[in-house]
Amino acid sequence: MLMNRIEKAAVNSPARRVLQRFYEVPALLKLAGGPLAPGARAVEIGCGSGYGTRLILDRFRAATVDALDLDPEMVAKARRRLADRPGRVRLEVGDATDLKAAFGAEDNAYDAAFDFAIIHHIPDWRSAVAEIARVLKPGGVFVFDEVTAHALARPSYRMLFDHPTRDRFTAREFLAELPRHGLAVSGAFTRISGDYLLGAARKHDPDRG
Ligand SMILES: C[S@@+](CC[C@H](N)C(=O)[O-])C[C@H]1O[C@@H](n2cnc3c(N)ncnc32)[C@H](O)[C@@H]1O
Repeated sequence: MLMNRIEKAAVNSPARRVLQRFYEVPALLKLAGGPLAPGARAVEIGCGSGYGTRLILDRFRAATVDALDLDPEMVAKARRRLADRPGRVRLEVGDATDLKAAFGAEDNAYDAAFDFAIIHHIPDWRSAVAEIARVLKPGGVFVFDEVTAHALARPSYRMLFDHPTRDRFTAREFLAELPRHGLAVSGAFTRISGDYLLGAARKHDPDRG
């Protein structure tokens, strides 16, 4: 589901950028065990205006990022923001539940997958988790920063923003879904009384037991 005008303004505000750069990404880097290995290929779902995509390149040190968003306006902004990184970023309009359509992504294609606050926008959120698990290599890392049902139920969220209303997830439900797709949570925590969930999970690697 696309963001409404108010959410676009909030998500693209300087305050959110400061939070993402100076609090969320350092916390996620710790949860993920540090930057990615040299040459790592990453995919980012719901990239918005591409601010997080830059952080994946610069802070997580991905070699390349395939990033997509359902909203053509956001993808156009991301293209402008990332115009100085030719060859390292592929940007497409597309749906997080079908990375094959957007990027031709085969099974086990990526070393890392990033979800900066987007899965709560997807009506069938479990199919987005399944798609991430499909395209991650064994041992690949899924880094997530999510908004839970707890936040979405707050009057401020309901009044100001548009989100799917049925079948939203609590932090516990999101974390319980990951192992069903072969993703083992390596670390996670919630903040603001369970409103937000930050974490990392690794895809099961049969060669490592
Ligand atoms: C809250 S915003 C987060 C944007 C960006 N990740 C950030 O942190 O600034 C959620 C984004 O998810 C996108 N989105 C919603 N449903 C989507 C879907 N099914 N597939 C891809 N993107 C989607 C929206 O268009 C929006 O840009």
